[in-house]
Amino acid sequence: MNKTILCIGAGYVGGPTMAVIADNCPEYKVIVVDVNAARIKAWQSAVLPIYEPGLKAVVERTLNKNLFFSTDIVAGIKAADMIFVSVNTPTKTFGAGAGKAADLQYWEKTARDIIEHAENDKIVIEKSTLPVRTAEAMHRILQSNPKGLNFDIISNPEFMAEGTAVDDLQNPGRVLIGAMETESGQKALQAVMDIYRHWVPEAKIKTTNVWSSELTKLVSNAMLAQRISSVNSISALCEKTDANILEVSAAMGMDVRIGPRFLQASIGFGGSCFKKDILNLVYLCEFYGLPEVAAYWEQVVLMNEYQEKRFVQNIINRMFNTVAGKKIAIFGFAFKADTGDTRESPAIYVSKLLLEEHAALRIHDPQALEYAKLDLADCTGDISYEIDPYKAAEGAHAIAVLTEWKEFRDLDFARLHAVMEKPAFIFDGRNILDHPKLFKLGFNVYPLGQKALSNLGH
Ligand SMILES: NC(=O)c1ccc[n+]([C@@H]2O[C@H](COP(=O)([O-])OP(=O)(O)OC[C@H]3O[C@@H](n4cnc5c(N)ncnc54)[C@H](O)[C@@H]3O)[C@@H](O)[C@H]2O)c1
Repeated sequence: MNKTILCIGAGYVGGPTMAVIADNCPEYKVIVVDVNAARIKAWQSAVLPIYEPGLKAVVERTLNKNLFFSTDIVAGIKAADMIFVSVNTPTKTFGAGAGKAADLQYWEKTARDIIEHAENDKIVIEKSTLPVRTAEAMHRILQSNPKGLNFDIISNPEFMAEGTAVDDLQNPGRVLIGAMETESGQKALQAVMDIYRHWVPEAKIKTTNVWSSELTKLVSNAMLAQRISSVNSISALCEKTDANILEVSAAMGMDVRIGPRFLQASIGFGGSCFKKDILNLVYLCEFYGLPEVAAYWEQVVLMNEYQEKRFVQNIINRMFNTVAGKKIAIFGFAFKADTGDTRESPAIYVSKLLLEEHAALRIHDPQALEYAKLDLADCTGDISYEIDPYKAAEGAHAIAVLTEWKEFRDLDFARLHAVMEKPAFIFDGRNILDHPKLFKLGFNVYPLGQKALSNLGH
C-alpha cells in the first residue's frame, strides 16, 4: 500500500480534515481535489476559502510539503489507494423525497469518476454524511466495474464542528470507523485506523459495522439539535411565567445525566448539517414505515422554525407593532460564532421576515458579510452591509443580536446608544450581552426566555 491519500471535495470538511491528517502524518502524501477551481486556488493562497481559528497555521505548515490542492481529479484517483469522499450531500429539492431525502448526485458522480479512472484496488471512505445503507449502493456501483478491481467501502463520518474544527480534529471525542465484516473490509479498516493512530489514542477510535456508523452520524446531529429545540421550547414558557431560562439551563445542566452543553437558548440552530441531517433521518423513518418515529424527529425542525418566527414577532410587537421604515441593525449573520459560514443561518430567515415587514436592515458581521450579500441577493428592500458595528447602528431603532460573536460583548454600548434613534431596542437572540448594564444605559432590552428590561411598559 502506498501512502497517498486523496480527498474528493475541498470544502468545510475536506480542507480542514486533510490538513490535520497531513500535519500528523508527515509520511503520507495528501491530495485534495475539487471541481471548484476558485476554491482550490484559494486553498493555495494566503486567504483560505473558509475561516476557522487555527486553520491557517496548519495549512501553512503542510502546504506543498505533503498537502496538495488540485483540480486534477483524474490524476488524484490514479495516484491514491485510499480515497476520502467529502462532497456535499444537500437536501433534495426535486422529485421523490424532495425537501427531506439527501441529494446523492454529487456523491454518485464521484463513484463514477473512481470507476472510470481507477487502475488498481482502492479503499473508498465515506466522509460525507449519508443515509444509512448508502455504502451498500456505493459498493454495488464500484464493484460493477468492468476492470475486475476490488473496492472496499469504509464509513468514517466527520464530527468536527465549524468554529472549532481544528481543535475538534486534533483532539476528537471519538473517531468512528465502520467497515464491512469481510476479510477485505477488515483489512481496509486497519488501513484507515493506521492514519488516525498517528495522533488519536486507540481508546477513542470506535469501530462498528458500516450501517451503525452511517446512522450514528445522523442521530448524533439529530440529538444535538433536539437539545437546542428542547431548551428553546422552554424559553417560550419562561417568557410567559417569569422563570429565567439561564437559571433553568444552569440548574438542569448540573445534573451529570444531562450535562451543561447545548442548553443555551437562542434564535435556533443553523448550519449546513443539522436541518438536512434530521430531515434525512425523518425520510429514512418514513421510508422504513415508521411514521411515529419520523414525526418525533421532524418536530425538532418545526420547533426551530417556531423559535425564529417567535423572535421576529417579538421584535414587531415590542416596537409598537410596526417595523416599517425603521432601521434594524443585525449584529451577526454567520450561523454561529467563529465561522464565516451562513448556510441555513437563522439570520437569513429573520432578515427576510423583517424585510417583508419593510424594515431597513443594516447588517454587520466580522466574517460573513460576503455570504450575507449572496444570501439576500434576491431580496428587495433597504439593506446595507457594514463592517463597522457603530456605523451599522447609526440611526437604527433596534439592534438584533443573531450570532454569539465574543466581540459583541466588548462593544461600547454607550456609544451605540448615542447614535441610535430613541427609544433604542436590543433583542438579544443569543443571550450574550450584559442586560442590566444595557438597561442602565437607556436601552429597552429583550433577551430570550427572560424578563424584558424596558421602560416602555411592555
Ligand atoms: N460543514 C460541516 O460542519 C460538516 C461536519 C460534518 C460533516 N459534514 C458533511 O460533510 C460533507 C461535506 O460538507 P462540507 O460542509 O464540506 O460541504 P462543502 O459544500 O463545503 O464542500 C463540498 C465540496 O465538494 C465539491 N464537489 C462536489 N461534487 C464534486 C465532485 N463530483 N468532484 C469533486 N468535488 C466535488 C464541491 O465543489 C465543494 O467544494 C456533507 O455531507 C456534510 O453533511 C459537514
